[in-house]
Amino acid sequence: MNILGIVGSLRKDSVHKQVFNHYKEIAKNQFELSEGSIVDIPMYDGENMDNAAVVKLAEQIRKADGVIFFSPEYNYSIPGSLKNALDYLSRVDPQPFVGKPAAIIGASPGAVGSARMQYHLRQVGVFLDIDFMNKPEVMISGVFSKLADGRITDATTVEFLEVHSKAFEAFVKKHN
Ligand code: FNR
Repeated sequence: MNILGIVGSLRKDSVHKQVFNHYKEIAKNQFELSEGSIVDIPMYDGENMDNAAVVKLAEQIRKADGVIFFSPEYNYSIPGSLKNALDYLSRVDPQPFVGKPAAIIGASPGAVGSARMQYHLRQVGVFLDIDFMNKPEVMISGVFSKLADGRITDATTVEFLEVHSKAFEAFVKKHN
């Protein structure tokens, strides 16, 4: 089973990139997780639908058995970089997300763990026909104290991500 991870942060030291990297290892008995990058996607202007980064990501999404978004919350919502990528991809024909099983993993330094972003992303997914797994939800609070050297050091979070990867594997299998 091949799952595509889309990291919603462009930051070099992104905690979501670190969580993505560790989750890949945690989930290795359930599925292979590769990265679909939004880094080179330009701002959508309705013109260049042949942009290489957009075409590549659309194709990766189509080929994947499922998608997991690893994204921060910016100002109580979806980071502009990720929203722009979703807007661009929504105009690609055929739209790559239709019927795609997906999940969201988010974290924050504070207590809310990106929950508000997650519900906005689920709302966007309604129009894109993304089939989001409802539960378990992953909202990692106090993330800066749960990471060291690019790995999640908090045992409870690691265990929960194991549970999540098993649930997502079962969710994706139901689609096939
Ligand atoms: C944030 N951050 C943030 N955190 C949060 O819990 N709710 C929020 O609304 C916001 N808003 C916000 C806006 C902007 C522009 C930035 C740069 C940051 C903090 C954010 O969760 C934190 O910087 C994370 O480290 C971002 O994830 P990455 O980039 O480390 O993966």
